[in-house]
Amino acid sequence: MQIKVDANAATDLQADIKVFGVFQTVEKKGKVTERYYDESSIKDSYVRKELKNIALASTFDASLGSLFSFNCSQGGTYLLMGLGEKKNLTREQLRRNIAKLLSYKNKVTSLAVDASSFFLGNTEDSIVAMYEGLMLANYDFQKYKSNPKTPKLKTITLSVPKKNHALFAQIQKKTTILAQSVNFSRDLVNEVPNVLHSEKYAQIIAEDARKNLKGVKVKILNKAQVKAEKMNLFLSVNAGSAYEPRFVHLSYTPSKAAKKAKHIALVGKGITFDTGGYSLKPAANMTSMKYDMAGSATVYAAFRTAVLNKCPHKLTCLMAITDNAVNENATVPDAVVTSRRGKTVEILNTDAEGRLILADALDYACDLKPDVILDAATLTGAVLVALGDEVCGIMSNNDKLVKDLLTSAKESDEYLWQLPLIDEYRDAIKSKVADLKNIGKPMKAGTAIGGVFLEEFIKDGIAWAHFDIAGVAHDQAHLPYCPSQGASGLMVRTMVNYIFNE
Ligand code: BES
Ligand code: MG
Ligand code: ZN
Repeated sequence: MQIKVDANAATDLQADIKVFGVFQTVEKKGKVTERYYDESSIKDSYVRKELKNIALASTFDASLGSLFSFNCSQGGTYLLMGLGEKKNLTREQLRRNIAKLLSYKNKVTSLAVDASSFFLGNTEDSIVAMYEGLMLANYDFQKYKSNPKTPKLKTITLSVPKKNHALFAQIQKKTTILAQSVNFSRDLVNEVPNVLHSEKYAQIIAEDARKNLKGVKVKILNKAQVKAEKMNLFLSVNAGSAYEPRFVHLSYTPSKAAKKAKHIALVGKGITFDTGGYSLKPAANMTSMKYDMAGSATVYAAFRTAVLNKCPHKLTCLMAITDNAVNENATVPDAVVTSRRGKTVEILNTDAEGRLILADALDYACDLKPDVILDAATLTGAVLVALGDEVCGIMSNNDKLVKDLLTSAKESDEYLWQLPLIDEYRDAIKSKVADLKNIGKPMKAGTAIGGVFLEEFIKDGIAWAHFDIAGVAHDQAHLPYCPSQGASGLMVRTMVNYIFNE
C-alpha cells in the first residue's frame, strides 16, 4: 500500500471510496441535549449538500468511531468517519481511528482521504498521528499461510492543500523509516522459534544493518568470544541450547556530533524461545514464548529508526541472543555462576533467565561508558498482573531519566508507568550462598525484583532505565494500528522520541 499526497479535492480524486472526517456538535433543543454531526466541519459543499439530501443522515451523529457511508447521486462512494467533538479529540484517538481504514484493505483498491477534515488543533501532531496510524496498521504476518491474501488496497491518496505538502512530505519520510523499522522487528518477533534461532537471528540483524545502516559498525560475538568476555550468566542460559549464543554489538557515531551529543546505549533481551529450562514452564505458559526476544527487536527497531533519521547522538545497540532450552548440559537450579561483573549469582529458577543474560549485557554496556542505558525485555509475567497488557513498566536508578522517558511516552501516546526500586526489594535478592539470587519471594513485586537484580550490574554514575515490555509486546487487540495477534512494535516510538528529545 502506497500513501500519496494530492492537491486536488478528495471529491475530485479517482478512488473507490472518498473519506471525510466529521466532527460532532452538541445542540440544546429544549431540555434535551442532542448530538448531531457538525455541518460546518464538512468543508466540502458537495458532500454537505449530498448528506443533507439523505434522509438517513440523521442517524449519523459523528460520535467518535461512528461510520456512515453512502453512494452519491453523481457517482462515487463516500465514507464519513465520526470524530466526536473537536475539542475532545486526542491525537491517539485520531491515530486509532484513521488506522481503521486499513480494514478496507481487502475490499477496495483505492481510498481518497480529505486529510484536513481530520485535523486536531495542532496540524503537525495531526499529520504525524495520521501517518503513524495508517503505516503501522499496514502490517500482516502471513509467511506460513499456503494462500496468503494479497491486499487489494494499493493506494491511499491524502487530499491536502498545496501549502501543507512540504510538511506532509517531511513527516511521511520520517514515519516511513519508523514504520519500516517497526515492521521489520514485528517480522522477527512473529517468526517461529524453529526457524529463528540465535545464530539465524544475529545473521538477519547483521545483514540488515550492513545493508541499510551505512556507517554503523557491526560486531557479532560468537560463543568463544562471549566466553572470552566472561559472560558466564549469559552462557549459563545458553548451556542447554542446540545453538551458539550471539551477542550483537552495533555502534553508530553521527557524522557531525553536536557539542552536547550524548552516548545512549540500548540493550535488549533476545530469548528466541523460553522453555523455562530445568524450571520448565507448564505447557499453557510456554506457548507464545517465541515472543521472548521482543526486547532485542524493540531496541533494534529504535536504533534503526534513530540512525536512519540522522540522530545527533552516539548510539550503541546490544542484543543478547540465545534460547532457554533444556538438554543434559542445561544449568540446574541451585547452580552458582560468576557474572561478567564478578558478582556471584545463585540461580534458583532457570526460568528467570532474562535478567541473567541482561546482567552480563548491561555490564558490557557500562564498559562502553555511555551516558544513558535503556534496556527492553519481556522480563516478567508479573508485569501483566500489575499493569495488564496495555501498560509498559519502567524502572530506573535515575529520577530525571524516568521523568524524560515518561514525557517521551506521553508525547508518543504509549502507556508507561514507573515501578519503585527500593532497598527492601534489594534485600530480597541477597543470597545465603552467593552475592545474589535470581528470584525473590513468590507473588511479591516480581517485576521490580527483576529491576533491582538488573540494577546490580549498572556502574555508578550511569543513568539506566529498564522497560518491562512483557505485557505490551504482543496481542494488542485494542489498538487498531497493531495486529490483534502477534508482535505489537510498541515502545519503539517512546524510545526514538526520547533519543531525539535528548
Ligand atoms: N519470558 C518470561 C516472562 C514472561 C512471562 C513474558 C509471560 C511474557 C509472558 C521470563 O523469562 C520468565 O519466565 N519470568 C518468570 C520469572 C520468575 C521465575 C521469577 C515469570 O515471570 O514467571
Ligand atoms: Mg523465563
Ligand atoms: Zn524469558
